[in-house]
Amino acid sequence: MLAGNSIGKEFTVTSFGESHGKIVGAVVDGCPAGLRLAEADVQAELDRRIPVKPKIVSGRIEKDKAQILSGVFNGFTTGAPICMMVENKEADSSDYEAIKDLPRPGHADYTAHIRYGGFNDYRGGGRFSGRVTVALIMAGAVAKKLLRAVDADVLAYTKSIGKIKMDRTPSFEEIQKRRYETAVRCPDLACAEKMEEAIVNARKEGDSLGGVIECIALNVPAGVGEPLFDSLDADMAKALLAVPAVKGVEFGAGFGAAELKGSENNDAFRVQGGKVVASTNNAGGILGGLSSGMPIVVRVAVKPTPSIAKEQHTVDVAKMKDAAIKVKGRHDPCVVPKAVPVVESAVAIVLADHMIRAGLIAKVLKERK
Ligand SMILES: Cc1cc2nc3c(=O)[nH]c(=O)nc-3n(C[C@H](O)[C@H](O)[C@H](O)COP(=O)(O)O)c2cc1C
Repeated sequence: MLAGNSIGKEFTVTSFGESHGKIVGAVVDGCPAGLRLAEADVQAELDRRIPVKPKIVSGRIEKDKAQILSGVFNGFTTGAPICMMVENKEADSSDYEAIKDLPRPGHADYTAHIRYGGFNDYRGGGRFSGRVTVALIMAGAVAKKLLRAVDADVLAYTKSIGKIKMDRTPSFEEIQKRRYETAVRCPDLACAEKMEEAIVNARKEGDSLGGVIECIALNVPAGVGEPLFDSLDADMAKALLAVPAVKGVEFGAGFGAAELKGSENNDAFRVQGGKVVASTNNAGGILGGLSSGMPIVVRVAVKPTPSIAKEQHTVDVAKMKDAAIKVKGRHDPCVVPKAVPVVESAVAIVLADHMIRAGLIAKVLKERK
């Protein structure tokens, strides 16, 4: 049994399925009744997973077809659990038999083998595969629709790949319009080209790259969050660190705040148009675990893809001997582009949960009926 597959208190998401099993999917419970929801909404989000350029992603390009099995009637959510899934049609397990006793360095093969006594489905990384993030994207599609019903939104984009950085801050409009136009999901077209080149070069060398994704949530009213342990930032960090390959999370000035003085880091308040705003946003829109009303800004560090073609040292866990491994199969030379909609979804799921807990979403749905 794998416990720990659900997240959320009032808007809950349970993820199920393995990379090379029959299906992957999610059950969303606690979605208020009366939200217009169609398979096409979920499909549109799923389609964002796969950048159009096969050069920079794995050969596993699945034409996933979203299915909603329950919780929707006559085009609206009913308030019952929403079960969503896609079939795994493109799974090819042949490369995994040869390395089933050779844990890939950097992947979860060794830790899963120990934890589940060898019974875990190792094919394609099983539960630990990036493929499982499809569940987050499907649940995120519901969460995003809920947020948009109250005029909030979540946008993520690629900030850096390896050492190539987008060092200016794009406008919300630019992120919204351009992020899915480039294969790497970076809204700066010139920077995106350099990022693509870096990924192609890493792949040629049998290697991989990581990067940074920034996510911005807009129009979240002040006061959302449940301190202490369900602080908005704590819950977001938990959801984001559950995304495979995410190794770090920071809000606003993040680790940079450690080098600032209080006078530099504090976001001075002022009144603008009858509302309290801050002149800067080093806090990333969260103070004391509660939203401040400023945009929520969170960044995640994504590590380089563990499965690489270069030879590496490992062990044979059956023979308990040192061994070497060259990972074959269809792997992304950089998972950042595919992880952009996943990060967006993880943040949207946590926000939907907290905004329902704050009584902000159910009320609006009723009013709009
Ligand atoms: C969208 C996405 C796609 C991924 N694709 C691959 C892949 O093709 N090959 C691989 O080795 N790891 C891939 N990963 C990363 C592994 O799943 C991850 O590194 C592994 O489960 C170990 O977990 P950890 O890095 O969080 O410790 C992907 C991750 C994501 C989010």
